[in-house]
Amino acid sequence: MVEFFNPTWEDIEEQIFKIAKRMADDSFYPDAIVAILTGGVIPAKLFADILNMKNIKYIDIKFYRDVNQTESKPVIKAVYVNDLENKKVLVVDDVSDTGETLEAVSNVISMFSPKTIRTATLYVKPWSRKIPDYFGEEIGKWIIFPWDKWDVVRSNPEAPVSKKEKYFELHEIFSRKRS
Ligand code: PRP
Ligand code: MG
Repeated sequence: MVEFFNPTWEDIEEQIFKIAKRMADDSFYPDAIVAILTGGVIPAKLFADILNMKNIKYIDIKFYRDVNQTESKPVIKAVYVNDLENKKVLVVDDVSDTGETLEAVSNVISMFSPKTIRTATLYVKPWSRKIPDYFGEEIGKWIIFPWDKWDVVRSNPEAPVSKKEKYFELHEIFSRKRS
């Protein structure tokens, strides 16, 4: 049976603080942040505010897991990145699962000639091929982030998330209107 982990906002803030503290202990002071769309956006915004940085860059990448899972790779959709030459870059995502996403994103960023690239995720799965430079906790469960819960429940209606009835009601209306 699948075990779920639903981090609360408190849990998320705790991981953010933990990671930021480790970066400070390492004297790693990034001068650019790249958020991995879409799950990395909210963690990246939280880091940007701690690091006192206004500008966030983005890489749009998606891992279509249900299509031939073992063979599939993440697909890069768009790269909204500039001015990384000689910069200390922090790449932010919510979780590293297989590690493929972080690997692909790191490869793309390295083409922009940064000084260093370090990666940070709130959580990492024990089986990940790429361990982020910074992560909050290792967790082997299916993580349902507050920002991802409707996406999870859409394809897994049994997933334990709050307010799903409301979600389905509204989602139905918009789906009907668009078809
Ligand atoms: C999820 C998650 C990470 C990635 C981790 O994103 O947010 O980005 O998968 O998986 P990996 O380590 O096996 O590559 P997803 O591609 O589902 O897109 P999303 O962030 O837009 O939900
Ligand atoms: Mg993602």
